[in-house]
Amino acid sequence: MKHDERLNMYAEKTQEFLDIYLDKSNCKGQEIIIDAMRYSALANGKRLRPALLMEFCRISGKNPEHTLPFAAALEMIHTYSLIHDDLPCMDNDDFRRGKPTNHKVYGTAFAVLAGDALLTHAFELATQYENLKHFEANKVIQATNCIAKNSGVFGMIGGQVIDISSENKDISYDELITLQSYKTGALICAAAEIGCILGGASDTEMEAAQKYAQAIGLAFQIRDDILNIEGDEQIFGKPVGSDEKKQKSTFPSQIGIENCKRKIENLTDIAVCAAVEGFKDSGFIVYLAKRLSNRNK
Ligand code: IPE
Ligand code: IPE
Ligand code: MG
Ligand code: MG
Repeated sequence: MKHDERLNMYAEKTQEFLDIYLDKSNCKGQEIIIDAMRYSALANGKRLRPALLMEFCRISGKNPEHTLPFAAALEMIHTYSLIHDDLPCMDNDDFRRGKPTNHKVYGTAFAVLAGDALLTHAFELATQYENLKHFEANKVIQATNCIAKNSGVFGMIGGQVIDISSENKDISYDELITLQSYKTGALICAAAEIGCILGGASDTEMEAAQKYAQAIGLAFQIRDDILNIEGDEQIFGKPVGSDEKKQKSTFPSQIGIENCKRKIENLTDIAVCAAVEGFKDSGFIVYLAKRLSNRNK
């Protein structure tokens, strides 16, 4: 299968799974919140985290389709983080995944609840009994623990806290790296790690996957910061120029755009080396690292 076809296949499988599991048929008055969850979760996201999770499972030796509950769970947590990130009390953004943000359509109360519901639904999926048909219980626990850890205070939430606390402040380059590694890096690393856990990767494969994910995670955020300056809003699917308006500390604001572009190239080389050294079947993850390095959306 060609790499771009595989990427589309992972995205489509995730979409189908989300569509089935965000189901209104048993609702008794709470339909609105499923609508709000579906509005953001089924919107046009890149599905990077599910693709990483499924691929690392595949190249570690197991059927990637069996990881769909975990891939969808991680995508739900990522989606919840975006819904809350866009709220007026956070980044106050109006445009996400090419559409008005969740609170613009459903109001802030339902946007908060839709985010909360996606977060809890993720753990329902990860711990559902059927997962034990394909994976040993200890692997399911490890994978679920990895989702929790990387989403929380020492993961994505921690990053959001530092991000908000750093507005209108000068922070050091090292602090910016820490912020990024929590805010964006944690869920990207979780995707690769969970794929390895469920796929039964060896310790060396797990180490290579972590090195790869850390490198692409940082490159991903730097590219995001660049696109917030020179991206095309219609393609990017979210506002351009908002970091400057909010006086966010970003990689371009600290080291300039040209250094950012060089840094992305270096990080992509590191990721490619880790992939090739760590896995025999590294073609897709090499392709993905390169594709992300010059993405426009
Ligand atoms: C956006 O993540 C927020 C960051 C972590 C930079 P993505 O760029 O993966 O967003 P979607 O899922 O494609 O909308
Ligand atoms: C969003 O971070 C990432 C999380 C919600 C964890 P940002 O605020 O930097 O990203 P965008 O620009 O809104 O996607
Ligand atoms: Mg933010
Ligand atoms: Mg934001």
